[in-house]
This record gives sequence, C-alpha cells and structure tokens, in this order.
Amino acid sequence: MRTQVAIIGAGPAGLMLAQLLHSKGIESVILESRTRAEIEETIRAGVLEQGTADLMRELGVADRMNRLGQVHDGIEFRFHRKGHRINLNELTGGKRVTIYAQHEVLKDLISARIATGGEILFNVGDVRLLDVDTESPRVQFRRDKDGELEELVCDFIAGCDGFHGPSRQHIPQHARTEYSEVFPMSWLGILAEAPPSSPELIYAHHDRGFALVSTRSPEIQRIYLQVDAHDDLGNWSDERIWSELHRRLETDDGWTLIEGPIIQKNIVGMRSFVCDPMQYGRLFLAGDAAHIVPPTGAKGLNLAVSDVVVLAKGLEAYYKQGNAAWLQAYSEICLRRVWKAERFSNYMTALLHRHANYSPFQRQIQLAELDYVTSSPVGLASIAENYVGLPIDWRRS
Ligand code: FAD
Ligand code: DHB
Repeated sequence: MRTQVAIIGAGPAGLMLAQLLHSKGIESVILESRTRAEIEETIRAGVLEQGTADLMRELGVADRMNRLGQVHDGIEFRFHRKGHRINLNELTGGKRVTIYAQHEVLKDLISARIATGGEILFNVGDVRLLDVDTESPRVQFRRDKDGELEELVCDFIAGCDGFHGPSRQHIPQHARTEYSEVFPMSWLGILAEAPPSSPELIYAHHDRGFALVSTRSPEIQRIYLQVDAHDDLGNWSDERIWSELHRRLETDDGWTLIEGPIIQKNIVGMRSFVCDPMQYGRLFLAGDAAHIVPPTGAKGLNLAVSDVVVLAKGLEAYYKQGNAAWLQAYSEICLRRVWKAERFSNYMTALLHRHANYSPFQRQIQLAELDYVTSSPVGLASIAENYVGLPIDWRRS
C-alpha cells in the first residue's frame, strides 16, 4: 500500500489534516487503533475557537455545527458570589466561540472523509513507524488488531496519535526536549439531563475550588468541578456533586443551578507538556502527540487544528512548488502558538483554581488578579483575545 501522507490517529488533528490535504489534492491514509464507535462516543472538548469554526465552514463540513453548535459572544468569570461578563465579541472586534462537542466534530469529519472516498482504517493493531529519517518512511500495522502484518509506504508521516501514541518516541531522545508539569488537581466532569443554567459558560472561582458550567444542547449540560489530583469517582455521589456545585456557584442575585439526572461522570487529570521540536526527518507531530494543556483555557482541540493548518500548508508548498522551506519551519511556527496557549492555559488554571499550597499572601495576589482582569479594559481584552484564539504567526527565522 502506498500514499503521500500516512496519518496515525483519527482524533481532531488526524481527521482535520486528512480533510485539509484532500482540499489541496494531496492523498493520505489514516490508521486508527480505536473503533469508529469508540471515537464517536468519547466525550471530551466543547469549545471551538473562531478560527476552528471558520475552518470547518471553509472545508464544507459545518452543516451540523451551524445547526447544532451554540455561538457564544461572551463568558462569565464568577467569584465572591458575583458574575463578571467578558464580552468576547466586543473586545476582539467581532470574534466568538462555538460550543460544539468534539465527538460531533469527529463524526462530521469522518462522514466527510468517507463521502469523498478517503481511506480510514479503524481498529488497527501493532502500528509501527519505520525509517522516519529517510526519504521513504513506512508504517506497519495489522487490520482488525490481529490481521496479517501490512505496510503503508509514504512520503511523510503525521503523528496525530495523542499523548500516549507511539509517534513521539520516534524522535530520538537526544534530539528532543520535553517540558512537563503535572497539576495537583483534577476535573470531575458530568453530563446532566437538564436545560442550560446559563446562556454562556461560567468559570467560577471559590474557596472550595473551581467549577465550570458549560453546555452541550438545549437538553444537556456539561459541568466540571475541581477535585483532588488522586480523587476517585466512588467518592462522588450525585448528591455530593450537586451540593458542591451549588456552594461553589451560588450568587447573591438569585441565580439558580438547574439540576437533572447525571448520565455520565469522569475524572481527568491536568498536565502541561511540550515536545520541542515537533518534527524529525519525515515525521511531523501534531496535537496532543506534541503538547498537552490543562483544560481551563479550552485550547487542546484548537491547538491540534492550528498545527495541522501549518502542516497542510507545508505539504502543499512541497508538493505544488517543490518548496520544503515551510515544512522545515513547521515546528518553529507551531511552537510559537503552542507556548502562548500553554501560557494562557496555565494562567487560567492558576487564576481560577483553589491551590492548597498557596500562602495567605499568594491567595491575596490571586484575588487581586481576579479583581484586576475583570475590571480593567486591558485585562478583559487580554483574556478575550486569548480565549477566542490567537492567530498563527507565520514568520520564519
Ligand atoms: P486525540 O484526540 O487524543 O486523538 C489521537 C487519536 O490517536 C485517538 O483516536 C487514538 O485512539 C489514536 N491512537 C493512539 N495511539 C494509536 C496507535 N498506536 N495507532 C493508531 N492510532 C492511535 N480542548 C479544547 O480545545 N477545548 C476544550 O473545551 C477542551 N476540553 C477538554 C475537556 C476534557 C475533559 C478533555 C479530556 C480534553 C479537553 N480538551 C479540550 C482537549 C482535547 O480534547 C484534546 O486536546 C484533543 O483531543 C487533541 O486532539 P488530537 O487529535 O491531537 O488527539
Ligand atoms: C468545556 C471544556 C473546557 O475545557 C472549557 O474550558 C470549557 C468548556 C466543555 O467541555 O464544554
């Protein structure tokens, strides 16, 4: 089997890359270790930056997003029992975010891929990358986990296989630097059958910990609350979740949290991670394979998308003009945006969570920061600019 670009992983990075390459007349094959059903059912991100939603429209895969996604002009920061609205739209000259679940984006990209005759092999096993530093890299795999060993020969490999995938390990240790930080808290996420408690997302800071009210549809709410790093779902009955959420979200103006049956619960850890460079030979890492952000800034999916926009441009210049300069600059261009998103995600995490290790002094500084960013036009503009998504900076050194 032969293709131009072998893509490992059918997450947002891999599927969006395949669609972008298709739009530029470049062939690819996606190899994915999970089944289609598993991918389409896993609940993860929900916030699409303006640029991500625009790209969905440009690629012609936005019909369902336009119908079912919710366009939000603002978000709320809540602390000391009071809400502070951040008007994203006014503060950014007209940008917005779209609340549309990651697995819905994946469904749209998978069906578009299949409709255009593109190849996605789900449920493959034993994926092995070979000769990534030569002109003809290869990927070995087995169909349906235990089929015959097959080989995909290609010009380039896109490692879009998430944080735990094998691709990153093919950049030799001496050739990469990894930056990593694990946070001493986790998020417990729920889906609840209840209408939205708020027309916009609420990021709440409270002495008892952070809480986030998001949404999925007019009937389903997505809500998160800060729990201990090694907490167990067994400690969190539905009653305890609701009671904790009420305490963290309560205001003085009579706002009420709407409860409903909890249909899904999970706990996710929080880490920051960056691999530099994101490229080695003919292997290019994109998305969580190269970097992880804590979820507070809602940046992970969006970073995966901006990486593959840069990669697709590099591959287009290579195939159409024989110009490899953009591919050579891939890592540099991506990492500039990645580090800014790491900065913002760390900032939002520090600002909004409860930190058991903070001294009374640090705690007062945190409260002053919250007061500052919600009252200063410059503070508000900075949050808004980062939240809707920074542009890709295409400069090359
Ligand atoms: P993934 O989605 O991890 O996809 C990688 C794919 O590779 C997977 O399908 C995997 O099965 C496959 N794979 C792995 N190993 C192999 C192998 N050996 N062979 C073949 N395939 C393999 N981001 C946001 O932007 N906004 C948000 O609001 C947001 N909220 C989040 C909330 C939660 C609770 C969580 C957990 C994450 C959130 N994120 C958010 C982060 C976002 O979900 C990820 O950053 C995003 O999924 C990254 O996409 P990806 O394609 O790089 O990786
Ligand atoms: C959602 C997830 C996030 O990480 C975030 O910051 C906002 C919303 C969500 O899943 O809806």
